[in-house]
Amino acid sequence: MTSKKKKVDIESLQRPSVEMLYADEIALLIKQDKDKPKPMGWQMTPDSVVKFVLGDKKLDLKPKFVGTRRFIERCVVALATNRGLMLIGEPGTAKSYLSEIFTAAISGDSTLIVQGSAGTTEDDIKYSWNYALLLSQGPTPASMVPAPLHDGMSQGKLVRFEEITRCPLEIQDTLLSILSDRVMTIPEFEESEKTLYAQAGFNVIATANTRDRGVNEMSAALKRRFNFETVHPIQNLKQERALVQNEMQRRLDRAGIPVRFSDDATELLVTTFHELRQGKTMGGQAIEKMSTVMSTAEAVEVGYASSLHAYYFGASSVKPDHLVDNLIGAALKENEDDLKKLRLYFNQVVKGRKGDHWQAYYKASKGSLGTDKS
Ligand SMILES: Nc1ncnc2c1ncn2[C@@H]1O[C@H](COP(=O)(O)OP(=O)(O)OP(=O)(O)O)[C@@H](O)[C@H]1O
Ligand SMILES: [Mg+2]
Repeated sequence: MTSKKKKVDIESLQRPSVEMLYADEIALLIKQDKDKPKPMGWQMTPDSVVKFVLGDKKLDLKPKFVGTRRFIERCVVALATNRGLMLIGEPGTAKSYLSEIFTAAISGDSTLIVQGSAGTTEDDIKYSWNYALLLSQGPTPASMVPAPLHDGMSQGKLVRFEEITRCPLEIQDTLLSILSDRVMTIPEFEESEKTLYAQAGFNVIATANTRDRGVNEMSAALKRRFNFETVHPIQNLKQERALVQNEMQRRLDRAGIPVRFSDDATELLVTTFHELRQGKTMGGQAIEKMSTVMSTAEAVEVGYASSLHAYYFGASSVKPDHLVDNLIGAALKENEDDLKKLRLYFNQVVKGRKGDHWQAYYKASKGSLGTDKS
């Protein structure tokens, strides 16, 4: 009954959280781990967290992230220590998604998020005030508006700090004493209430993008308070294809769009992204890398956009023309040279490939990219 009701609720949401989508899996693991030893404040064991992330056939858990077990184990161990976890890597490698999965599994709540930007202030991280109450009552717990770090410490939950290196250094340094002493001081409160001690279960997962402001711009003191893990793009084409296909299908189902995305279309889409990202073809031929990030996340976006394009403009399945048109919008963001590189890819690689779908793909590129003209 309850799970049915939940489903109705989340169906109207644009993007339900991981703990909503996989509530049944989380409940199962919590129940199974009830009497097992686990890190204090965690709702399931480290082993169950790994299974939740990577999937488990026996327990009927869906795989959510494609990566090695060793990598996930290292991350889980890091979260159980007294240091935070820093996920770094290229854009679109699922750093944010992975931190959402971890927080959903470990704390049951992935929503304590600080979004790092040039404008992030200490108030966004620690706490601010309800000014009407502050004026009438003075600085009391009731007039305080806790920010995610305060909530995470008082409730013993993991806090996500997105794009931490985009924050000014002095804001990043707000975390220093909190991560080492696990204490937040609130000077405005009376002596007896000044100190907030973190409950067991609190820790921080930060993400940083290696393409934006460098990770180097983090202070050495802060770096020492994190375990660093690099999230790599998916190396295996077959796994990437399966992921893109599943993710796209999930989105199309949710949107109620019955358009067909064939295996051939998935092959064209994912191979193009994979090869342009790696700077070499599956056969080992070197090609020019694009300056735009050709991430798996982008491939999913292009596939989804192509499906909408097909569906709303009268086609029952996604055709190479839809792919080429939407590929251009995603690939040509950074600089004009990328257009040349994309044309070259079609002329040098796609044109020579065997198979009707590859030839149709090349033909489609003539109209939109003018490939036969260069
Ligand atoms: N290894 C992977 N496992 C699962 N999903 C992946 C993987 N790599 C990419 N994805 C796709 O990427 C999407 C999430 O990308 P996300 O926004 O988390 O990336 P990011 O690394 O945080 O990017 P950015 O640096 O731009 O913030 C997922 O929804 C999924 O479709
Ligand atoms: Mg991100």
